[in-house]
This record gives sequence, C-alpha cells and structure tokens, in this order.
Amino acid sequence: MSRWNVYVTNEIPKPALDMLEEFCDMEVNRTGKVLEKSVLLEKVKGRDAVLSLLTDPIDAEVMDAAKGAKIFANYAVGFNNIDIPAATERGIMVSNTPGVLTDTTAEMAWALLFSTARRVVESDKYSRMGKYEGWGPMLFLGQQVMNKTVGVIGAGRIGLSFAKRAKAFDMKVLYSDVAANPEFEKETDGQYVSLETLLQESDFVSVHTPLLPETHHLLGEREFKLMKNTAILINTSRGPVVNEAELVKALQTGEIWGAGLDVYEFEPEFAPGLLELDNAIVCPHIASATFETRTKMGIIAVTNILAAMRGELPPTCLNPEVFKNN
Ligand SMILES: NC(=O)c1ccc[n+]([C@@H]2O[C@H](COP(=O)([O-])OP(=O)(O)OC[C@H]3O[C@@H](n4cnc5c(N)ncnc54)[C@H](O)[C@@H]3O)[C@@H](O)[C@H]2O)c1
Repeated sequence: MSRWNVYVTNEIPKPALDMLEEFCDMEVNRTGKVLEKSVLLEKVKGRDAVLSLLTDPIDAEVMDAAKGAKIFANYAVGFNNIDIPAATERGIMVSNTPGVLTDTTAEMAWALLFSTARRVVESDKYSRMGKYEGWGPMLFLGQQVMNKTVGVIGAGRIGLSFAKRAKAFDMKVLYSDVAANPEFEKETDGQYVSLETLLQESDFVSVHTPLLPETHHLLGEREFKLMKNTAILINTSRGPVVNEAELVKALQTGEIWGAGLDVYEFEPEFAPGLLELDNAIVCPHIASATFETRTKMGIIAVTNILAAMRGELPPTCLNPEVFKNN
C-alpha cells in the first residue's frame, strides 16, 4: 500500500500527527492561523486526503481544487463548514469526530452557567483592579443555581451529558427537540416541552442543537421576550443559532439577566456592544479545548484517513453512501 499524501490545515496535538506521519506523507499548516481561501485552494491540490478544521470552509471549489482526494476528515463534531452534498456528488467521503467532545462541551456549558450566575469573571476583574475594600452585603449578588429549572434545547449527545449533571444540583430539567427522547427522559427525569414553555419556565437555557437552516436564529428578540428577566442563556452550540445583535439588546435592556457564550454569529467577530456588557461572558470557542479531548479528536480524524487509505469505511463517515458506491 503506497503512502498517502495528506494536508493538515492547522496544527493538532502531536500524538495524532505522529500517527499520521507513520503511514502517510503530510504537510501541516504550522502558522497557527486559519488559511486564506486562496492558500487553501493551492494547498489541497494533489492530496489524497485533507484533515480540515471547522474554521475551513470546505465548499465545492475547495473539493474541485483537491481533485482526486478521497476524504476530508473534519477535526470537529460539527460539520456545517463542509458542503456534504457537494462531497457526495464528487465521491469524496467526509468524516467528523463525534463522541469525544460530548462531556467536554457539556462541562464548558456548566462552567459558563456557574460563572455567569455567580459573576465569577466580573468579580475577578474587580479584585484585580484593586477595587475590593472588604466584604459587602450587596457585593456581586448573583443567581442561585441549585433547585432552579434548566431548559435544554437539543437533547442530543451534548444536551444529554449536560442535563445529567443537573441532578447533582437538584434542578428540574425541561427540554425541547424535534421529537421526544425517551433515553434523555430516563437519564435526566427531563420533561419534554415546547420551545415556548421551555423559555418561559427556565431559569437557565442551554443550547445544544447543530447549526441547520431550521436552527439558524432559533433564538431572537421574540424568544428573549418569552424568557424570564432573571434568566441566563448559555450557548456552546454554534453562534448563528442565536441572533447575536438581538441578544446584545436583550442583555442591555435587562430582558434577560445574563449570557455565557462560547460561540458567535460571525466568528471571530463579536456583535457590536457585546464586549462592553458585564452580564455576558465571552469565551473564544474553547468548549472542546482540553488536552484529552483535542488529542482524541486528532486520533479519530487520523483513524478515518487511515481507514480510507486501506480501502475501509472510515468509522465516523458522514456520507457512507460514497463508500458503498465505490
Ligand atoms: N463549542 C464547541 O466547541 C462545540 C463542541 C462540540 C459541539 N458543538 C456543537 O454542538 C452541536 C451539538 O452536538 P451533539 O454532539 O450534541 O449533536 P447531536 O446531533 O447528538 O444532538 C443535536 C440535537 O439537536 C436536536 N435538534 C436538531 N434540530 C433541532 C431544532 N430545530 N430544535 C431543537 N432541537 C433540534 C437534534 O434532534 C439532536 O437531538 C454540534 O452540532 C456542534 O455544532 C460545539
């Protein structure tokens, strides 16, 4: 079996690159920056496989430039950056890295929930600015978390992992999805409700849907009006699921109390006004950023490439019909 020629669009943890290098010739973009489209188009030429990131728009133009490539292995569970129908049409397989991000992302949603509710970032800044002059009865009052109601939008893998932890805080769980999920209910005692009911009754709303045409701007002005004035929104899914300009307005006017965000509508840009708000926590898309998870993601992406090289179905192929038709 001849060695494949693989392009890696950005640096990923060493164990994954070592594994790839053992069986393939590879070139890695080590600039630490997302490649310009024109550079990406050049770099993918003549490759057998491309290991791409969620920040790389893999459209028909890139696929045509990568003529002859058998697989785009995306280093993410989300794959809204890849035009899957275009790949299928061209006989190119696409894979993602599901499973290993689940608990890590759920953990980040909780980190944001607690930090926003208890004003951790804001009060830390206050201390560092030398403003702390002693305990105060009204200093940084926040929202209690325990015994409250948490609403989970999207009861898939991450939504479930997130909701399972709510039991530890004696919280009531509501969830909305395109259909009821008996496994979710069994594991979380969660109650299936409409999105409207979830928004009206939840103290914390955590979003865990993929970005799809149906979930684009799932939450906007109308939805923020339905939420309690004391409610907190957590988004670790994808930025465009929330109308960010309308979220800024809702946070400015006190329509909702706070937001803990990991993702943004126009990353890496923030909506005007967002960074000035004390009641928003703005993390730079780090929900899966643990040493453990990022290494596992790399190993899965490489495993998919090596399977394709051996003529096998990549274990997490998103369009297996391409493999069957070959
Ligand atoms: N911030 C990060 O770094 C990070 C990390 C991992 C995943 N993510 C995002 O999280 C998303 C969810 O990941 P997952 O592994 O849980 O996916 P999943 O496919 O297991 O779950 C998604 C759930 O959303 C539901 N859903 C779809 N459309 C809906 C709608 N209109 N209304 C309500 N629910 C709807 C689905 O039915 C499913 O239950 C990914 O697609 C990805 O974009 C972000």
